Amino acid sequence: MSEPARYDPVAQAFHWLTALAVIGLVAIGMVMTELPPGSSLQFRLFQWHKSVGITVLAVTLLRVAWRLAHRPPSLPAGMPGWEAMAARATHAVLYSLLLVLPLEGWAVVSASPLHIPTVLYGVLSWPDLPGLGALSGKPAIEAALKTLHDILGWSFAALLVLHVTAALRHHLILRDDVLRRMLPRRRRVRVHLYSAFLAVAIVPALPSHSARAAEWAVDMGHSTLGFTGSQGGSPFSGHFTRWQAEIAFDPANPAGGHARVVVDMTSATTGDSQKDQALPQPDWFDVKEFPQAEFVAAAFRPKGGNAYEAVGTLTIRGVRQDVVLPFTLDLDGDHAHAAGRLPLLRTDYGVGQGAWSTGQMVGLEVAATLDLTATRRP
Ligand code: HEM
Ligand code: HEM
Repeated sequence: MSEPARYDPVAQAFHWLTALAVIGLVAIGMVMTELPPGSSLQFRLFQWHKSVGITVLAVTLLRVAWRLAHRPPSLPAGMPGWEAMAARATHAVLYSLLLVLPLEGWAVVSASPLHIPTVLYGVLSWPDLPGLGALSGKPAIEAALKTLHDILGWSFAALLVLHVTAALRHHLILRDDVLRRMLPRRRRVRVHLYSAFLAVAIVPALPSHSARAAEWAVDMGHSTLGFTGSQGGSPFSGHFTRWQAEIAFDPANPAGGHARVVVDMTSATTGDSQKDQALPQPDWFDVKEFPQAEFVAAAFRPKGGNAYEAVGTLTIRGVRQDVVLPFTLDLDGDHAHAAGRLPLLRTDYGVGQGAWSTGQMVGLEVAATLDLTATRRP
């Protein structure tokens, strides 16, 4: 292979896109951890942090593959041995951190007892790391994973200061080619390339960062959270009398919205005393062990007209599953009416144990239904 004089354009694009993303991640990481816990802005910044962080992981895997197949330029001939070694070591550690830090961040959210779903850029549901959900009841491990992420994040930032100082020293003091060979060849091209990077990196971020999702207060007297099922082929329905919902939604920016509904499972009622006695039992909702169910929407997607989807997770009996809830939304000034139906297989959540899990007596197909009236908070 002949000796290249500079990094090829693909390696340069990987380098500068990653640099932009990492600086953004450290900045968002610093800001989001200082915000009031549970605030709408904090929620959105966490989603952005996770989305960009996972993107860095994917891009770094591609970058490493590209790097292994394409030789970089050699270090300047007159460079002292210690400095060449320091440069190679710094680059190797930077590459390692670009892989380890997002993986470790992914572990932090996978082991978190909050079970907040990750929906990349409000569009793509991202799974948790397998096996780590089992750690979510162990606060010491969760705290250790968080601390490790903080330490790795700050070490990364410190190493970058060293890296950038070295690059500037080469350019401004030693006046060699080290920085130039990581930059596009001609000025005109450079301007275009930077504009392209900025467009790719910043434009998608704008709507979500600038628009705050409006908060909605649910009118409990005119809202119903229900469920439907069938027994011996005959349909039945019921509802929950106690539940709470926090909703942040802006029709102009559905991807930036989020919602959380917590349901008191002891409050299920069908109007049929036999069913009402059975539902709290261990075979069904097991309310002693699992008093609450939870639906968390990490983003909303417009589906045309008044149709939307809420992308998130549903947890019943401690079993969490990714779900997409279709609903319609009708707005009248500051008043909103939303209605949706989420078909489910009750056995996906362990509802109906033992003989009940066959579906012979009580159908496996059930649905959660939602009819909400809400007012925009001032
Ligand atoms: C913020 C995140 C950044 C990360 C993660 C990062 C990472 C890296 C890595 C891993 C390499 C080695 C490339 C290879 O040989 O395959 C590299 C090279 C380089 N970086 Fe960065 N970098 C960042 C920011 C910057 C900044 C802000 C500058 C300049 C001010 C810079 C200047 C350079 C230069 C000049 C090289 C080429 C060094 C050489 O020729 O051996 N980097 N960077
Ligand atoms: C190169 C990638 C990443 C960098 C540079 C980075 C950097 C940071 C930084 C600087 C903080 C703030 C630490 C503090 O002051 O408390 C932070 C927090 C956090 N990051 Fe990342 N991060 C990355 C990837 C990820 C990924 C991929 C995820 C999840 C999928 C993630 C999840 C988190 C979480 C949950 C916190 C808050 C932890 C806490 O509550 O203390 N990060 N990150």
